[in-house]
Amino acid sequence: MVANHWTVPNNPIGNVPPVEQDRCGWFQPRSGIRPLAMPTNVAVWRLVLLGAPGVGKGTQADLLNQRLDACHLSTGDLFRAASKQKESDQSPAMQAAMEHMRRGELVPDSTVWEMVRERTNSIRCSSGFVLDGFPRTLGQAESLKQLMEGERIPLSAVINYELPLSAIVARLSGRRTCEKCKAVYHVTGNPPKIEGVCDRCAGKLFQREDDRPESIAVRMDVYERSTAPLIEFYRAQGLLVSVVATGSPDEIYAHTIAALRARA
Ligand code: AP5
Repeated sequence: MVANHWTVPNNPIGNVPPVEQDRCGWFQPRSGIRPLAMPTNVAVWRLVLLGAPGVGKGTQADLLNQRLDACHLSTGDLFRAASKQKESDQSPAMQAAMEHMRRGELVPDSTVWEMVRERTNSIRCSSGFVLDGFPRTLGQAESLKQLMEGERIPLSAVINYELPLSAIVARLSGRRTCEKCKAVYHVTGNPPKIEGVCDRCAGKLFQREDDRPESIAVRMDVYERSTAPLIEFYRAQGLLVSVVATGSPDEIYAHTIAALRARA
């Protein structure tokens, strides 16, 4: 954990507090920030994870982060961390973002991009990165493309996880998340050893506000309208890798790595 990594002076949407965990850092390495120079002798993956809410992107990002030692960004975790701030410390844009999130809608592109733009210096993370939940509109994807072209850093691939809706809803309704380290569990599929307690850090597990049935319906609808078009966007650039998201998290991780190696 690097002090001030989260704190962006004069950030128009308000500063995001430091959080002692891996998932919600913007390209935050597992142990400190790595040098920005690219290594020449190891495979470095720079990945975007696509897929409907609840398909398992965060779970796979966590595995990729741990095993490839890549840096991980979850914009959803970033917004949830910001929501823990006192309301009086949140900018009007961030308060509006929280409302959108609660209803299951997307946060406006301008607010998301402010978050991302303030952290572009970390894009050269030497062991690669995994973007989880960003981009999720064509506007965000275009902005990311321009940013990476400007930095002359190419994306390696965009992994699209596929799963039938019924399985997705079952995953979302049983999800529990650690309030401290953001580790993700499932009440039946991946339960903690002690009910309600995180295996990793003993933090308390909670059910996300947007995992209520009415918010899930909105999120699925928003996904179809705003995020699914990114599949064709990235297919047209030759970056899309589709992975069927059935089986255990480890099996899906193995399929992901096999698909990436086949592509390489
Ligand atoms: P975000 O946090 O990104 O949510 P999401 O995309 O809806 O994705 P989820 O986190 O719900 O699911 P996941 O695919 O990561 O699945 P998980 O691994 O947890 O965003 C939340 C909100 O923030 C958005 O709605 C929006 O308002 C806002 N936002 C964020 N980014 C934004 C952006 N760029 N633009 C605009 N707005 C933005 O798994 C789900 C469950 O399944 C877990 O319980 C897990 O244990 C279980 N599970 C996982 N894998 C398996 C498996 N193989 N078998 C059985 N169970 C499994």
